[in-house]
Amino acid sequence: MRVLGIESSCDETGVAVYDSAKGLIGHQIFSQVEMHAKFGGVVPELASRDHIRKILPLIEATLEEAGVRGPELDGVAYTAGPGLIGALLVGGTVATGLAMAWGVPAIPVHHMEAHLLAPLIEENAPDFPFVALLVSGGHSMLVDVAGPGQYEVIGESLDDAAGEAFDKTAKLLGLGYPGGPALAKLADQSDVDKHDLPRPMLKKPGLDMSFSGLKTAVMLKVRELENTGNWNETEKADLANSFQDAVVETLVKKSLRALEQTGRDTLIIAGGVGANRHLRASLEEELQKTGRRVFYPRPEFCTDNGAMVAHAGLLRVQDGQPAADGVIARARWPLNELSAIA
Ligand code: KG4
Ligand code: ZN
Repeated sequence: MRVLGIESSCDETGVAVYDSAKGLIGHQIFSQVEMHAKFGGVVPELASRDHIRKILPLIEATLEEAGVRGPELDGVAYTAGPGLIGALLVGGTVATGLAMAWGVPAIPVHHMEAHLLAPLIEENAPDFPFVALLVSGGHSMLVDVAGPGQYEVIGESLDDAAGEAFDKTAKLLGLGYPGGPALAKLADQSDVDKHDLPRPMLKKPGLDMSFSGLKTAVMLKVRELENTGNWNETEKADLANSFQDAVVETLVKKSLRALEQTGRDTLIIAGGVGANRHLRASLEEELQKTGRRVFYPRPEFCTDNGAMVAHAGLLRVQDGQPAADGVIARARWPLNELSAIA
């Protein structure tokens, strides 16, 4: 079976074809990041318009790369939510229109399920059950995954998502948009955790997280250093490193707690922040100590992409999920509303 997947929930237009026997056979992505950078964040209306410009050429290029014609596909999967509603509607209407024309089913995919199943695309894939740490620009959550489609959210951020905290803190440090990767790079230039930033909610029991206080703590530090005439490139790198350490330590400890609480011995990381090298290394180190394992997709499948949508769509087509009736686009969509995949 072969499924075309279309991702357009935010600022990346991603298209891919996933083949049940061969794996990924076509993969194209266009990032709008440059366009949004001058505004310091994603401008939803501009995102929708740019998806419209890029989506059809990307689909054509992906089908050519895969050597497949539209009617030969077994379905067209698209991200139906959660995400920016205008951006979602572009992918949803194009996918539904093409599926109708080609006489194949259109399959709405949950963006976070696509992220969560992305480690299965890799050769060294985890087995179910596992705990998933989903950390992106819009979400930070811990999910107990009994099997495909069986998700229980067991912890989440009460305010900013981890990626959002990275982006907002990067802005405070005068780094461009998107700030996450830039902040991580700057943090690499420092090897001291000099500023004692708060570890939000670490002392509290449970699995929920909070990151907005951390951003405020960074803001106060920047002001203090500016007022005392000590704000320079070295201080900036040290502060970036202390911020990254605080987020990583929080995510690592909450993940370990989630594994203990559920009795699972496998963790997967997905979503944009999952591309963070320090987070990956810390999780590997900590989990090894207790004989547990951690899996993650390669960095380009951590951030938004079409491959994860094609892959999740394929699992649902193989499961015999009926085609969607009309275009589905949901800005909000709780993960636990999904049905199990047999
Ligand atoms: O999953 P994603 O591409 O889009 C959403 O669904 O939100 O995640 C994007 C987020 C952004 O906040 C970005 O700054 C963050 O992931 N990010 C990183 C890194 N790479 C991307 N954060 C920290 N370290 C990174 N290396
Ligand atoms: Zn995402």
